[in-house]
Amino acid sequence: MQTIVTAHYEEMSQLAADQVAAFLIKKTNAVLGLATGGTPLGMYDRLIQMYHQGKVDFSHVTTFNLDEYIGLSKDHPQSYAYYMWHHLFSHVNVHQENVHIPPGVFEKQEQVQRDYEQAIERAGGIDLQILGIGENGHIGFNEPGMDLEVATHVVPLTEKTIQANARFFTSIDEVPRRAVTLGMGKIMQAKHILLLASGKEKARAIAQTVNGHIDPRIPSSFLQLHPHVTMIIDKEAAQELQEVSSV
Ligand code: F6R
Repeated sequence: MQTIVTAHYEEMSQLAADQVAAFLIKKTNAVLGLATGGTPLGMYDRLIQMYHQGKVDFSHVTTFNLDEYIGLSKDHPQSYAYYMWHHLFSHVNVHQENVHIPPGVFEKQEQVQRDYEQAIERAGGIDLQILGIGENGHIGFNEPGMDLEVATHVVPLTEKTIQANARFFTSIDEVPRRAVTLGMGKIMQAKHILLLASGKEKARAIAQTVNGHIDPRIPSSFLQLHPHVTMIIDKEAAQELQEVSSV
């Protein structure tokens, strides 16, 4: 696991965008796994700027998002589909047919889960998975528990996650209680993982991810088993780490 500590959120975002752009220059038809939430917003902004400067091209890129709230249609302003189009896809030259986001409204749950995984397999698997991290160590919406699910699945969100995500809604009551998420299997099968974290609220989870035991109660700790993980985190998120290298 390579850990890069930056001075602040802006530097983290720039470095992450640079790494994604470098990846896309090397592999123009890369399959990207994408995250939502507050953390990657700065990186998406910079990727849009780089696209306008002709430094990065999404025309052959395929994307798969990690998760979606159950019950929110893709037009709902708090849905992750809306977020992705608003914060990235509408501003770059990615083709709509190459964008995949798990549906939040569906009839046959198992079919949806199977279709999503099969689409990832048909695309050749995820080349670069972008991850944020929850204060409780969740990745995607793989929440802490006594065991973790390998496959894409529907998950009840923990109280901590509901509280953390309430900032995006008018009231906490509006936060959906369930989400569909890529399981640990497809995340761990990604060829490269780039995890971003900013702020002291993430410091404990980051320390447990890097220095702790591998434990399903800290889902991110499983990343220790992955051969190609880069974490770009700001110094507040790094403050509980035992050993760090700074940029
Ligand atoms: C979102 C996702 C989540 C977030 C995590 C951190 O697609 O997969 O795991 O990355 O909840 O969220 P922020 O960045 O808002 O702190």
